[in-house]
Amino acid sequence: MNIAVIGTGYVGLVSGICYAELGNSVVCVDKDPFKLATLQSGGIPIYEPGLQELSTKNVAAGRLSYTGDLRAAVHGADLVIIAVGTPPLPSGEADLRYIEAAAAEIADALRGYTIVAVKSTVPVGTNERVRDLIRSRTDEPFDSVSLPEFLREGSAIRDTLEPDRVVIGAESREAANKVAELHKPLTDRIMITDLRSAELLKYASNAFLATKISLINEIANICEKVGADVTQVAEGMGYDKRIGPAFLQAGIGYGGSCFPKDTRALIQIAGHVEYDFKLLRSVVEVNREQRFNVVRKLEMIFGGELRGKTIAVWGLSFKPNTDDVRESPALEIMRHLTDVGAKVRAYDPIATPNFRSLFGDRGVAWCEGALEAATGADALCLLTEWEEFAKADLPELQGVMGRPILIDGRNVFREEDVAGTDFVYYSIGRPSLNQGVREKVPLLQY
Ligand code: UGA
Repeated sequence: MNIAVIGTGYVGLVSGICYAELGNSVVCVDKDPFKLATLQSGGIPIYEPGLQELSTKNVAAGRLSYTGDLRAAVHGADLVIIAVGTPPLPSGEADLRYIEAAAAEIADALRGYTIVAVKSTVPVGTNERVRDLIRSRTDEPFDSVSLPEFLREGSAIRDTLEPDRVVIGAESREAANKVAELHKPLTDRIMITDLRSAELLKYASNAFLATKISLINEIANICEKVGADVTQVAEGMGYDKRIGPAFLQAGIGYGGSCFPKDTRALIQIAGHVEYDFKLLRSVVEVNREQRFNVVRKLEMIFGGELRGKTIAVWGLSFKPNTDDVRESPALEIMRHLTDVGAKVRAYDPIATPNFRSLFGDRGVAWCEGALEAATGADALCLLTEWEEFAKADLPELQGVMGRPILIDGRNVFREEDVAGTDFVYYSIGRPSLNQGVREKVPLLQY
């Protein structure tokens, strides 16, 4: 199949490269001259494990190219995939400006029968709007298809090449079958729906996953009060096939470019039809508060006074294996710490430049290594579960820190890791692992 993908963000780029890997001829289109120059010179503008290699391989095989010329790309395509951004408006609603601009340009470039699919996450009714917009600008034959995306950053290639399901929303059975054919090598679980159900299904899936995370985080908070261990609770819950073990990892809440945006957008979508989505509003609120779990623990340990304390932070990205810092819990945690006068020393394996451009400098010491960040610190907060942190040598870490206080916001360390050390150790929802707190906190009168 000849495919044009409009937009080379995470979704567009990964999908385009993976469609080429399946043997299709793919042209990825972007307007951004910087992104385009990077792609055309063999680079990849985002960090995603394995993507660079897969792009290089498919470009070399002549199946994949990058261009700024949307018209030429659309002319030669059987399938045009819109994968441009839908950033949130201040109200929480998705901004459809880029989708509409892309649809108009596609309409003006259509030549002969083409399937136009929207892969961006869009509110219910958007595919119909796109269809009507294209129809108002051209007499060329086309069909609209909704093709929601379920990939995760950090494991995007695997999620795309081995999806749990492929959902195709369409009005035309023929168009749906053609798009289904394209995805057959990936999975047997291909579901054809109407346009609106495909659109809502995507939001509902993210809302459900976000709900699971907020639920387990609230259970973790209760565990801390009643003396239970959230990892044991989650494991036991997960064995129930109706619940499943995934996304029950307690921590400091979800971030990223999807869950925060999509949960707010779904609340707005519901609001527009006069439905108050109470459950999802709570999920969002719980998530916002959960990041302060770490701050509360620091305040408890230091008797409420963080001014002048040196706090090391490990992990700035919203999750490991990505340099994406959008809505990362680290942003608000570090904003709070710097606001109250703590001296922050931060380290992330790859996300520091992105973080700094969003956060500013605010007197933070940006470190090149994990031990460097921890050196002389009064406490260390682990905010992203990068593998290198899990491998840290705790006795060595203890040796460089001013005071051995570790707040593990992602439950990375096990009981046996901290048992032989002098760390005052706190994690999320595992009070039985707290080390030395009762004995040592009274000594920490600064
Ligand atoms: C999410 C969905 O998982 C994808 O299916 C979807 O396609 C994507 O959004 C999207 O809409 O584009 P992503 O945001 O890349 O993918 O990352 P996730 O792995 O889902 O993690 C999201 C956040 O939840 C992270 O901050 C992570 O730390 C947190 N999380 C995840 C938890 O706190 N606990 C868990 O058990 C799982």
